[in-house]
Amino acid sequence: MSFTVVTFLLTILFFGTYDAHGLQKSKHNKVVVCYVASWAAYRPYQGAFSIANLRPEFCTHLVYAFAGLNVTSWTIRSLDPWADTEKDVIGNYRKMTALRQQYPGLKISLGIGGWNEGSKNYSQLASSPDRRRIFIASTIEFLRMYEFDGLDLDWEFPGSRGGVPDDKLNFLRLVKELSDAYREPRLSLTAAISADKKTIDQAYNIPEISKYLDHIFVMAYDYHGTWDKKALPNSPLRSNDGLNVEDSITYLLQQGAPAEKLVLGLPMYGRTYILTTPPEKPDVNPIGLPALTTGFKGPYTGQEGFMGFNEICEAQTSSEVWTTGWDNDTNTAYAIKQNHVVFYDSIKSIEAKVEYAKKKKLAGVMVWSIDTDDFRGKCYKSEFPIMKAINKVLADTSDTLTSPVPVPGPNTSSVQFISYIVLMLSIMMIYFTV
Ligand SMILES: *[C@@H]1O[C@H](CO)[C@@H](O)[C@H](O)[C@H]1NC(C)=O
Ligand SMILES: *[C@@H]1O[C@H](CO)[C@@H](O)[C@H](O)[C@H]1NC(C)=O
Ligand SMILES: *[C@@H]1O[C@H](CO)[C@@H](O)[C@H](O)[C@H]1NC(C)=O
Ligand SMILES: *[C@@H]1O[C@H](CO)[C@@H](O)[C@H](O)[C@H]1NC(C)=O
Repeated sequence: MSFTVVTFLLTILFFGTYDAHGLQKSKHNKVVVCYVASWAAYRPYQGAFSIANLRPEFCTHLVYAFAGLNVTSWTIRSLDPWADTEKDVIGNYRKMTALRQQYPGLKISLGIGGWNEGSKNYSQLASSPDRRRIFIASTIEFLRMYEFDGLDLDWEFPGSRGGVPDDKLNFLRLVKELSDAYREPRLSLTAAISADKKTIDQAYNIPEISKYLDHIFVMAYDYHGTWDKKALPNSPLRSNDGLNVEDSITYLLQQGAPAEKLVLGLPMYGRTYILTTPPEKPDVNPIGLPALTTGFKGPYTGQEGFMGFNEICEAQTSSEVWTTGWDNDTNTAYAIKQNHVVFYDSIKSIEAKVEYAKKKKLAGVMVWSIDTDDFRGKCYKSEFPIMKAINKVLADTSDTLTSPVPVPGPNTSSVQFISYIVLMLSIMMIYFTV
């Protein structure tokens, strides 16, 4: 056999094997947490994203966003019972947790809270030992009923937006009591936290909550938006005003968050602005230019001031004339059309952030949210270009190795069986062709 054939066989042996759980061995040991916005299924046209569009092989963890709080009974509840629990007989909760059969090792959590749920009701929940006890018991029953692996707390935020100063201590109590209760049955506990220093100070006792949370997801975005009345990046890696990814992570590490529990949040969206005066030349860098207090919407997400990565890249490939640029100081991409500006994370800026997470030895990265990647592959040659870029940087391999592929089997032994058949067929083919 020639040298190339030997190399090829060795490649199959080393990279085509499966671990004890039947999952193809991950090419990296970092976590990739993928939030899935359940309401993305209602987006119009090609923007609609349902569980059938998910490609879990790009993620080590999925988070179903979001469940809510019943403030009559102080229990966890579905915010969309038809879609979550009834649709197609089993509902989306069970559809998502059933993905574990095809992707053994995938961890699937249920997120509770989110921006629209506000802070006040969670503040009232956390303030009372009885309410916490009832709530915690309800989560265990709920998670087990739908076979989730754990709970992700998305209270935005303790101590602000209608919360009170006591929230900081009460959030710690809630986290500690949840973590105690989740030892048996073993459930995971994570939280998504603000990346803003002021909010962090009001909301979290970082060293203490770090003891009880399995991972801390840092929402390192929304640093700027139309509220600034100036066009500024959503998620700068660096800046001189302290509002950027590196300063947030540095601050959390200084506060005592262990690097191995921190997960860097990456936005799969940009923030939009309408400049008060259109720039004279389209190739201007729009950073800091005066803007109106309202931005514009994308055709799928329909949220003023916000555009998914898929909407941004599709606009650029359409007949509309967008001028794109790169701000090197903040590691941010932008696109301009007359007085319309969007600052966003391109593949290049995401890659730099993943490199940064690796350099700081963080647990990994999180994406908000996988449903606005170019999941239909309309802009690039392939689907999910951002998820692929993330996994590639984490694996730090050359172009020849593709991302992990899904395993077809229902269980370990059949998966291994299939992998051995594939290996045997490959060896036979090589013998016939050489
Ligand atoms: C909240 O819980 C109460 C008591 O169990 C129940 O009657 C009510 O329907 C629930 N409300 C919602 C919105 O789920
Ligand atoms: C909080 O609970 C109240 C009921 O007490 C409800 O009306 C309100 O919508 C909840 N807040 C949010 C932001 O969901
Ligand atoms: C862009 O920024 C990086 C990181 O700060 C720096 O190393 C590089 O020299 C910059 N490139 C240019 C062209 O300014
Ligand atoms: C796994 O698959 C093998 C062969 O396909 C079968 O014999 C075995 O019973 C299965 N195990 C489980 C737990 O389903």
